Amino acid sequence: MKNGASQRLAPAAGSGSPSEISHCSTNLNTSDLVTELRVDDSDVTTIEAMKDSGHSACENRPTAIDLFSGCGGLTLGLKLGGFRVIGAVDIDPLSIETYEANHDDVTVWTADIRDLEPSEIQSTLDLEPGDLDLVAGCPPCQGFSTMRTLNGSLQVEDPRNDLLLEVLRFVDALRPKAVMIENVPGLADDESFQVFCGRMKKAGYCGDQDVLNAAEYGVPQRRKRLIYVAGLRTEIPFAEPVEDKLTVKDAIGDLPKPGQSGDPIHDLSERRTPQVMRLIQRIPQDGGSRTDLPIEDQLECHKRCDGFKDVYGRMAWSEVAPTITSGCFNPSKGRFLHPEEHRAITMREAALLQGFPDSYKFPKATSKSSLAMMIGNALPPPFIAAHAKVIRNTLQLKGVTPSGDWENM
Ligand SMILES: C[S@@+](CC[C@H](N)C(=O)[O-])C[C@H]1O[C@@H](n2cnc3c(N)ncnc32)[C@H](O)[C@@H]1O
Repeated sequence: MKNGASQRLAPAAGSGSPSEISHCSTNLNTSDLVTELRVDDSDVTTIEAMKDSGHSACENRPTAIDLFSGCGGLTLGLKLGGFRVIGAVDIDPLSIETYEANHDDVTVWTADIRDLEPSEIQSTLDLEPGDLDLVAGCPPCQGFSTMRTLNGSLQVEDPRNDLLLEVLRFVDALRPKAVMIENVPGLADDESFQVFCGRMKKAGYCGDQDVLNAAEYGVPQRRKRLIYVAGLRTEIPFAEPVEDKLTVKDAIGDLPKPGQSGDPIHDLSERRTPQVMRLIQRIPQDGGSRTDLPIEDQLECHKRCDGFKDVYGRMAWSEVAPTITSGCFNPSKGRFLHPEEHRAITMREAALLQGFPDSYKFPKATSKSSLAMMIGNALPPPFIAAHAKVIRNTLQLKGVTPSGDWENM
């Protein structure tokens, strides 16, 4: 479903919520959840199982909506963690096109979230307050990014920051059993996050946040992100890290050379000036940096600048990748060179390093920069899946999912 814009709304600011909570229920520890996860692993889905079973097998799963859904990284993680995603919202038509190509079982709204009434979602999805299990979302994070602060003030003024508060309107109306927000670590220092947490608490949610590294949750990439989880009158723990790390080699080591692989987003060509190509060819294989080169082999601009040592660096086969950003197609934006070949990573490689499966569909006829924007902004599905499983198991152990009575908790 595509939705046109309606009138613009101010955030509801947690109004109309139940009175302040007296306590959060905490009688769970992570070992309970780990045991429960083992028991539950049979029905925690894999991409293959999802494809084989079709969508009907998901009917009994707890439900979620994805606000700021982008190309669907969060949605995929929620599905892999055992949720049935029933609604998604994003303003960007290309992201929605990609989302729908991969998640045609979800009702989507192409809309500015500020113009979308929660009642529209409720009536379309037939949701009474308290029916939904999870509201999850990743508001645009550029406003909070500490990279942005390198050039200027510490407290970044950015209207996108206010989009976090839009989530409150949906929480107020839908009264989900749990809420999950993901963002860059800088969000924790932003005033809007303090306001958000205060209003969530007032609305009866027990929230907690931590900065976690996706590399510790089965993602072949170093990516530190703030994750906020809250349960309605119940605490929800964070997922435990997994023991084995995946490496760049695990993720992209067996891909064919780009050019004629048959995968359009692996085959997009790149053009470099002869000067830059000479530099790239000299960077040592498997983790080398421009700083490994004698000064006379470096670009003039690098001779004058001591910072940004990762630019024109190669990834190392046996390590995790650096954070995949929207600039990941451009070696001048970070350590985005292939470990051996004289090129930046392809968009398929970027998606795999974000933890997307190789079957994930992206539009063929679009630019590398648009693809990199969607892929770099996405949440790594395995990272989200780990947290989604813990949320699902916590709600299940409490007997509130899918049809439990949260009013009486
Ligand atoms: C960090 S990305 C979300 C990534 C996504 N959760 C994923 O895992 O792929 C933020 C998204 O917010 C969307 N967005 C920005 N402003 C918006 C608005 N006013 N209303 C709805 N979506 C918006 C952007 O188009 C972008 O896709």
